[in-house]
Amino acid sequence: MLKGRNLIDPMDFTLEEVEEILNLAENISKKREDYAHLCDGKILATLFYEPSTRTRLSFESAMLRLGGKVLGFSEPNSSSVSKGETLADTVRVVSCYSDIIAMRHPKEGAPIVAADYASVPIINAGDGGHQHPTQTLADLLTIRSIKGKLSNLTIGFCGDLKFGRTVHSLIKALSRYENNKFILISPKELQIPQYIKSEILEKNNIEFTQVENLEQVINKLDILYMTRIQKERFNNEEDYLRLKDSYILDKGKMDRASKDMIVLHPLPRVNEIDYEVDKDERACYFKQAQYGMYARMALISKLLGVI
Ligand code: NCD
Repeated sequence: MLKGRNLIDPMDFTLEEVEEILNLAENISKKREDYAHLCDGKILATLFYEPSTRTRLSFESAMLRLGGKVLGFSEPNSSSVSKGETLADTVRVVSCYSDIIAMRHPKEGAPIVAADYASVPIINAGDGGHQHPTQTLADLLTIRSIKGKLSNLTIGFCGDLKFGRTVHSLIKALSRYENNKFILISPKELQIPQYIKSEILEKNNIEFTQVENLEQVINKLDILYMTRIQKERFNNEEDYLRLKDSYILDKGKMDRASKDMIVLHPLPRVNEIDYEVDKDERACYFKQAQYGMYARMALISKLLGVI
C-alpha cells in the first residue's frame, strides 16, 4: 500500500512497489488522457530550497496533467525561510495547504526531518549530494522501456560520482535486480562515496570496477549514464575548473560503443555530451526527461491513493 507514504530514499519501496509505480507510469505514457482527472481537487506543494528547473517543472507538469493544482516556492529567499523559519515549521504549515509535498534541499537528510513534521506525504526531490529517488524512478522507467529489462545489464556511470546524487540513488536501485554490473568511471577525486561501495556494492557481492578512462570501457556497456560535474558542491573553484572537462562524450567515443548501448543523463548537461551526439539514436536523455514526468505522475497518484 503506497497511499500516505513518503519517498525519501530509493530503498523505501519494495521491488513490487517500484514495479507498481513503473507499470502505472507506462500506462499513463500510453494513454495520458485517461488520467487527466485523477488528481482533481488535490494540491501539490513544491518546496525548492535549491535551484532547479527540470525537476520542479517536471513535478508541476505531472500534477497539472493529472488535473491537480500546484503551489510552492523555488527561491527560498522569497519565502519565510529568509525570516528564519525552520524547515519543521514550514512543512507543518504547508501540510495544511496541500495534499503532498515535493522538496529539494541542499542539506543531506533534510527530507527525513520534514517527514517527521509533515502530515502529508513528503517526496525527496534531491537532498544535497545524497539521494534523488524520483530521478531514479525516471531512470528505471527509461531503462525498462527501452531495454525491456532492469537486470543483466552492464551500466557505466561517468563523471562526478562523488557528489552526483542521481548516481547514488540509481546504483542503490539497480543493485536490487539480478546480475547487474557497474563500471564506475571518474577522476580519482570524484569516486563514489565509500558508503555506497561498502554498504551497497560489496555487501551484496555486486561486480563493479572503478576506472578513469571512458574510451577503454565504453564498448562493454549496455548503458552509459553521463553526469555533470556538480560545481555547487565543490569547496574551491580551482578544483572544479581542473575537473570540469574530465569527460566529454563525442562522436568518436560513440563510434567505439555497441550499437545497442544507450546514453542517459539526468540533465542539465554542461559540456559533458557534445551536441553532435544528440542526433545519435542511442542518445536517450530527452526521452528520459519525458519518462520522468510519467514516473512522477504515477508516484503522486499512488502516494495520494487516488488509484
Ligand atoms: C540532477 C540533480 O538535480 O541532481 N538533475 C535533475 O534532477 N534533473 C542532476 C544534476 O543537477 O546534475
